Amino acid sequence: MLEKFRFLTAGESHGKCLTAIIEGLPSGFEISVDFINQELKRRQGGYGRGDRMKIESDTVEITSGVRFGKTTGAPVTLVIYNKDFENWEKILSVSAEDYTEEKSFTKYRPGHADYAGSVKYNHKDLRDVLERSSARKTAIEVAVGAVAKQILKQFNINGYSKVLQIGKTTEEEDFYAEIDKAKEAGNTLGGRFVLVFENMPVGLGSYVHWDRMLDGRIAQALMSIPAVKAVEIGNGRQACELTGREFHDEILLKDGKIFRETNNAGGIEGGMTNGENLEVYATMKPIPTMRIPLRTVDSSDMSEAEAHFERSDVCAIEACAVVAEARVACVLVNEFLLKYGGDSLEEIQKRY
Ligand SMILES: Cc1cc2nc3c(=O)[nH]c(=O)nc-3n(C[C@H](O)[C@H](O)[C@H](O)COP(=O)(O)O)c2cc1C
Repeated sequence: MLEKFRFLTAGESHGKCLTAIIEGLPSGFEISVDFINQELKRRQGGYGRGDRMKIESDTVEITSGVRFGKTTGAPVTLVIYNKDFENWEKILSVSAEDYTEEKSFTKYRPGHADYAGSVKYNHKDLRDVLERSSARKTAIEVAVGAVAKQILKQFNINGYSKVLQIGKTTEEEDFYAEIDKAKEAGNTLGGRFVLVFENMPVGLGSYVHWDRMLDGRIAQALMSIPAVKAVEIGNGRQACELTGREFHDEILLKDGKIFRETNNAGGIEGGMTNGENLEVYATMKPIPTMRIPLRTVDSSDMSEAEAHFERSDVCAIEACAVVAEARVACVLVNEFLLKYGGDSLEEIQKRY
């Protein structure tokens, strides 16, 4: 796979901190820490979040690659410290001397990585699976996405999202009541949202190989968000119901310029941006951890049991949409830098 903008993250849900190292950022791009923090705040918000988000007030620290507000071209390191770590220091200690079974658990949570993860990595204590499989790591991904958004913004490319559905409800004014109802019943909800990126240049992505198709890359970036179960590019959901004449966006001319009256393709044709708005939809399953637990098995003695419960969100669709914006921003920056190249802002501006 061709990659220009690359990053790795590390960190556990209740560990000391979450970290990301971004590689491939050209020099000269303005990076605002305030903007990253605003994005982190957006991820923490939304109706239906659990108590953990009351403990954390995520802020980022940049420890490399930015000087006097601008990227230097060196790798950029981002760190978010977990406030809750002070309560978990011994439980997640690096030192063998601190061994404890406090907070260990063995009752698999259906809908989580617990069962497959413990078989795969041979963990007896499911805590070892939970800590990294948790969606807590999406905080640092949002910070990386906020850097990506700032690169795109310099070229007037902006992204936003909107929640369209929570449970069965599509009426925005009923969203909170729907979440309250689920909470009262010890239940949880998922939802659906749309992502839009405006002012897209033509030709990001490529048709020449399967792994360079932009729709495929976006689908992978969104599908791999914890709990996302369906991704649609444009009017993907109705693609099987509409006829060719109804679905395809005719290419029209006005004052010598190409325009479209419809955007069922969601701004991507042949694996490339076609200049229309990028429009993507994603569906999140209901949160798997429930106050009234599901039936499961206790791995310690293979007995029937009720799933382990740990404080949890009732609905995290708004946060999920913010994570999705970040993930797609990273994909787009990668494609943008692949297409326009250059090691500095000035070089890229000349080629753009
Ligand atoms: C922003 C966000 C917050 C989440 N919060 C929770 C939570 O509080 N409790 C929970 O059980 N699952 C939560 N999830 C979902 C789980 O992380 C996810 O279902 C689990 O890791 C299994 O992954 P899969 O659903 O993709 O198979 C959240 C997901 C996202 C994107």
